[in-house]
Amino acid sequence: MNIPDIIIAIDGYSSTGKSTLAKLIAEEYSFLYLDSGAMYRGVTLYALENGLIDKEGTIDEAGLRTALPTLDLDFRTDGTYIGDRCVEKLIRTLEVSSHVSPVSAIPFVRNFVDEKLHAFGKRKRVVMDGRDIGTTVFPDAEVKIFMTASAEVRAQRRFDEMKMKGQEPVLEEVMKNLLERDYIDSHRETSPLSRAADAYVLDNSDMTLHEETVWFQGLCQGKFGILE
Ligand code: DC
Repeated sequence: MNIPDIIIAIDGYSSTGKSTLAKLIAEEYSFLYLDSGAMYRGVTLYALENGLIDKEGTIDEAGLRTALPTLDLDFRTDGTYIGDRCVEKLIRTLEVSSHVSPVSAIPFVRNFVDEKLHAFGKRKRVVMDGRDIGTTVFPDAEVKIFMTASAEVRAQRRFDEMKMKGQEPVLEEVMKNLLERDYIDSHRETSPLSRAADAYVLDNSDMTLHEETVWFQGLCQGKFGILE
């Protein structure tokens, strides 16, 4: 199937499998995959490592605002980098997960990340996942998908993923973090998580990955009049 040079925006709740589907699309149809959440996670890791978030979770916003322009955050083929250091593993810990939503709710942090995302999006033939890609970052994206799944299914998926990575998660904590993030992400003032009016909803609670890809193919066939 030949998909034209477009932008595909995949938004949705935490742990709905956005990145799994996005990576699969990228591989199958030669798109560049960009994980916008990794940028927010990178900023959060940087803030934690530089003492800009205290033990109670309070963010030193003035300090972060001053430091942010010097933060050299980048995507490379093998993951997210701060300067020359690959931080891909570090940004996926529960510690970063539990601070990332408040950090990503800060408007100047969103501007910092949006600038980077727009620069990447200039290329077209990009599939990007996040919370506000179809609503704010690329409102003109040709294909928008909004992913959802039951909280139980999502918590179990994230739990399994963390175990596979050698971490020792507790299911209740994973669930708590997930629900907290859903709440903060969808209630913040700037670019809250919401479904774009023209997004296609994909509830994958009871779907296999193969079924999701078949669903995506059907969507593109219908939208672009592709016959095969
Ligand atoms: O997709 P993720 O779980 O790695 O994202 C981490 C956090 O980053 C998420 O809880 C909210 C924030 N985020 C955002 O606000 N906007 C995006 N486009 C992507 C992520």
